[in-house]
Amino acid sequence: MTTPVITFFNNKGGVGKTSLVYHLAWMFSEQRKRVVAVDLDPQANLTAAFFDEDTLEAMWDDAKSINTIYKAVKPLSQVGDLAEPELSKISSDLYLLSGDVTLSAFEETLEGVWPESLGGKNLYRPFRILTAFWHVMQMAAQKVEADMLLIDIGPNLGAINRSVLIATNYVVIPLGADLFSLQGLKNLGPTLRDWRTEWKKRLDNWKAKEFDLPKGEMEPAGYLCQQTSVRLDRPVKAYDKWINRIPAVYRESVLTETKPPKNLVPSNDKYCLGTLKHYRSLIPLGQEHRKPIFKLTTADGAIGSHANAVQEAYKDFSVLSKKIAEVAKLDVTGVGK
Ligand SMILES: Nc1ncnc2c1ncn2[C@@H]1O[C@H](COP(=O)(O)OP(=O)(O)O)[C@@H](O)[C@H]1O
Ligand SMILES: [Mg+2]
Repeated sequence: MTTPVITFFNNKGGVGKTSLVYHLAWMFSEQRKRVVAVDLDPQANLTAAFFDEDTLEAMWDDAKSINTIYKAVKPLSQVGDLAEPELSKISSDLYLLSGDVTLSAFEETLEGVWPESLGGKNLYRPFRILTAFWHVMQMAAQKVEADMLLIDIGPNLGAINRSVLIATNYVVIPLGADLFSLQGLKNLGPTLRDWRTEWKKRLDNWKAKEFDLPKGEMEPAGYLCQQTSVRLDRPVKAYDKWINRIPAVYRESVLTETKPPKNLVPSNDKYCLGTLKHYRSLIPLGQEHRKPIFKLTTADGAIGSHANAVQEAYKDFSVLSKKIAEVAKLDVTGVGK
């Protein structure tokens, strides 16, 4: 049995991806689904959302400190095998596999073995390296009997992300309402297809079957529209212009539909998983208290209109988590297990 991997991916930064993974991880755990959140972005923003700077410094500087995702895969860049990942328990149903600012050093190792894995012999090591993230994540999930793995990655199409996507069952794509997000989406679809095809060739080349490999499904689960790009200095019309182009571009680029229906807008598109609202000052308040915004209390300063916003946010993330669970075919009936 493997644990489903849901990766949040977009090759444009600043679309609220890390905040989304952070809040969804908390929301699923609120619903008594056991989550392992994995920070595979070398910027390690997700990890920083959970811990203060002293904790982070100790985690990254001290060789004896816990095994982050990088420390777990690092022995492979020399002669060793994977090390066991160590999880931080955040709450009874939420665990973090910490990111690492030195993870980018693994990019080169991954790049090197990508062509080698199509060769005729000595395939053990290339495949071990290419699937290191998958093995480490699955080990982590098994340790705590997790229901799902939620993955945050950086905004690029590099070798680390290719390896993460190969390890992914479902891809959720957060998008902003601007030209850059739309262009990013146009690149994303063909890239996912290319990675799927290339991985399939490698799977066919893996005759020895000394260990299991991920299937490289990376099935598109849908997209999310981010409202934070509604800027005061830009008219709403500009927001609508870009946001309303998303459904057709998503269908053409990601799903290869040749004739997407006309007049689709995100609000009537079945592939739109929801809108990421602009939560304004609630976001920094949550960051200050290292809590998801929907768990802020009056003691944290969430008073007056903030208190209402906290409740609204709870509903928003609850609806979104159920939608994602449905699309990713997670068992939601176990709520309250
Ligand atoms: N829903 C939101 N409402 C308001 N601000 C947000 C929201 N989501 C994210 N932000 C802020 O926007 C910035 C970028 O968000 P982040 O989650 O780091 O994006 P990404 O991971 O895509 O780069 C951060 O400063 C974050 O605090
Ligand atoms: Mg991020």
